Amino acid sequence: MTENPFIICENLVKIYRVANLEQVALQGLDLVVERGEMLGIIGPSGSGKSTLMNILGGLDRPSAGRVIVDGRDLRKIPDAALDSYRRTTVGFVWQQSSRNLVPYLTAEENVMLPMTFAGVPPRIKSQRTRELLDAVGLSHRRRHRLAQMSGGEQQRVAIAVALANMPKLLLGDEPTGEMDTATAQSIYQLLRELNQRYNLTTCIVSHDPTIARHVDRVVAIRDGKTATETIRQTVPIATAGNGAADEEVEQEDIYHELVVLDSAGRLQVPKDYLEQFGIRGRAQLEITPDGILIRPAQVVQETQAMRVARPEAETVTGRIGLRRRLQSLSSTLGRWTRRQEPPVADARSEEARHGQ
Ligand SMILES: Nc1ncnc2c1ncn2[C@@H]1O[C@H](COP(=O)(O)OP(=O)(O)O)[C@@H](O)[C@H]1O
Ligand SMILES: [Mg+2]
Repeated sequence: MTENPFIICENLVKIYRVANLEQVALQGLDLVVERGEMLGIIGPSGSGKSTLMNILGGLDRPSAGRVIVDGRDLRKIPDAALDSYRRTTVGFVWQQSSRNLVPYLTAEENVMLPMTFAGVPPRIKSQRTRELLDAVGLSHRRRHRLAQMSGGEQQRVAIAVALANMPKLLLGDEPTGEMDTATAQSIYQLLRELNQRYNLTTCIVSHDPTIARHVDRVVAIRDGKTATETIRQTVPIATAGNGAADEEVEQEDIYHELVVLDSAGRLQVPKDYLEQFGIRGRAQLEITPDGILIRPAQVVQETQAMRVARPEAETVTGRIGLRRRLQSLSSTLGRWTRRQEPPVADARSEEARHGQ
């Protein structure tokens, strides 16, 4: 059970219906997150990031597909079980920290509030509040009201509030969206520390690609699907051979951006790549020693060129014209599909008819 991934999304679809209009927010999204992993999620505005967060957080249900978190099927579990999942398994941090906070209470009182609602005994409550405020670096500010705190400090309190009921999953929807770069970096660092300290599976949506430095993996969402994944690899820095002492090998991070194949084997090719090679509508796949090459569909272009050069060839209707076209198509397709032989089968049936 514990070996299973913590989050599995398969072919996840979310359609919002507003006044007879359908808005497809997620269109077949696939995602797997391991227990204890820290994942960054980036993507243009409107690509479906918040929709995914809301589904993972049990605030909304998908329209179709599968979403399993910690063994629970969030599409199928009853409402009461979803409520309990939301309260006990998930912590949420928002762009506006105020969504987690009561402004006229102190930091400490804010962190205690969710535990009070959950009926946690007072002694455990105080102990855990102290521990959490220490973990977010705010022990010295615990008696301060939120109004006396900076934006970064308020977000730290909001993170402590999100962790009050010891969730296994922490979701952040652009938690650094309203911060300057330095504060944002310190919040990412804090989230990383908490992820490791509590083995907290963590998914953070960000508009900032530098989040890659702080997380295990970054997934980019485009048009409601996972499009690419960026994976970090730490490698020794190649020295220029200047005689530096080799006791301490310096390391650097290299990022690899990989295209994601969905469960049906589809992949999204970046628009600028397609435009660069004029690929539209159809493409030709070619097996090469190193992999699969995607080329503009020359079959179509050749056929059009033939139409211009030899108009009579295209005006021939019937079996011969069709056969020639099929042969030209199969000689191209034969590079990547098994060769079909429809014209031969056709001829044989003709012979059979003559023989009768
Ligand atoms: N409650 C809703 N009702 C209708 N459409 C919605 C709703 N929430 C999101 N959408 C639409 O779904 C798409 C994805 O939105 P969202 O998940 O908020 O994207 P992101 O967080 O990446 O900016 C957008 O086109 C948005 O307009
Ligand atoms: Mg959003």
